[in-house]
Amino acid sequence: MKNLLLLFITILIIACGPQERVSKQAFDDVQRNNEVKRITEVAILQEAMVWGDSITQEAQVQLTAQLQQAIASNGPVGAIDFCKVNALPILQFVESKYAVTLRRASVQPRNPADTPNAEELPLLEAYAYNAENNISSDPSIQKIEQGEVLLYTKPILLTNALCLSCHGDPKKDIAAETSAKLKELYPQDLATGYAEGDLRGMWALRLPKKEVVKRL
Ligand code: HEC
Repeated sequence: MKNLLLLFITILIIACGPQERVSKQAFDDVQRNNEVKRITEVAILQEAMVWGDSITQEAQVQLTAQLQQAIASNGPVGAIDFCKVNALPILQFVESKYAVTLRRASVQPRNPADTPNAEELPLLEAYAYNAENNISSDPSIQKIEQGEVLLYTKPILLTNALCLSCHGDPKKDIAAETSAKLKELYPQDLATGYAEGDLRGMWALRLPKKEVVKRL
């Protein structure tokens, strides 16, 4: 019986000894791999942030410049047609230039196509919470589609008094003629009643991970 116990302990030591060394080695390997992966992952997220800033900036500049031009030549009423016809093609141009998906989302959309989807809504709500509590919001990156796509979002604020001529108070900021045109083109319009500085919506930019990796 005593011998049997001794044998059992010996087997245990033999069985556990080398195994422990192997698993330590395996553990180290995993740690090393993780470290390599972690660095790459951080670099990818950082690059997605830089690229996202640059693409949304480009789209914003294009939209604002062309909108200002349209207002200067046709007034706000004429510029509504410009937005209806041209906002989407400007975004589509940027999309095909970089092989990404770019859209704007708002909880009070003018164009119903800009209603936030399930991925976008919680982010918009977080930006809205910050705006209401005077906390500034930075852009953010979320991994979606099993990490194959990086969703970059950035708040869009009504920083410009110009925006109010089509998104402000219908009694004060928006001309009657402009209101009539908006009603005609956007019967379900929810995008009025804003004040300067309010959160109007956000950019939602989907960056395929492989496109981000190409840039590293
Ligand atoms: C001349 C009128 C006009 C002005 C000025 C204007 N917008 Fe708009 N805005 C529109 C129209 C029209 C749409 C809907 C475009 C479409 O059909 O895709 C829109 C849509 C948007 C959207 C997309 C979400 C939604 O509601 O569908 C955002 C965000 C937005 N505008 C922000 C701004 C900001 C910021 C400014 C000031 C820099 C601004 N707009 C100035 C007319 C205007």
